[in-house]
Amino acid sequence: MSSGLYIESNLTENEKYKVILEQLSYILLKEDNPLSSLANLTALLKQTFDKISWVGFYLYDSKRLYLGPFQGKLACTNIELGKGVCGKSAANKISIIVPNVNEFPGHIACDPESKSEIVIPVLIGEELFGVLDIDSSSLNSFTETDKKYLESVCKYLSDKILKK
Ligand code: SME
Repeated sequence: MSSGLYIESNLTENEKYKVILEQLSYILLKEDNPLSSLANLTALLKQTFDKISWVGFYLYDSKRLYLGPFQGKLACTNIELGKGVCGKSAANKISIIVPNVNEFPGHIACDPESKSEIVIPVLIGEELFGVLDIDSSSLNSFTETDKKYLESVCKYLSDKILKK
């Protein structure tokens, strides 16, 4: 990406996601190193949505998930498949919305201020690449709208940027 993207703060969440999706082809470039695209995507989401306290990728190395590009406070570096929200999303290849992290059995509390969370798996074809993990310091921050658009963002990422 060569120039910035400014998204008006008075737009609805739906509108913000639509702008993001429309602009992805200008922000994520195939000729860039994929790590740079992941990093910019975390920045774009963090600067667009005030409700996000932490956003980042955990990447899969065939053994476990390890911390990738993120925006926010220091975080856990390794997560086993099946553990926590990220590990469960990765193991089952499904998106998970957690309205209240204290009610999710096995939730891993990297940041004690995190109250709700959404995790989207990133797949290349059928293969697990990693997960997109987003936290909020308020309860009930994420809805089916977030899930729908974030899944589209991750699909764009895998189809256009990560796929060989
Ligand atoms: N809460 C996550 C761990 C990662 S942090 O939120 C950054 C989980 O339960 O998998």
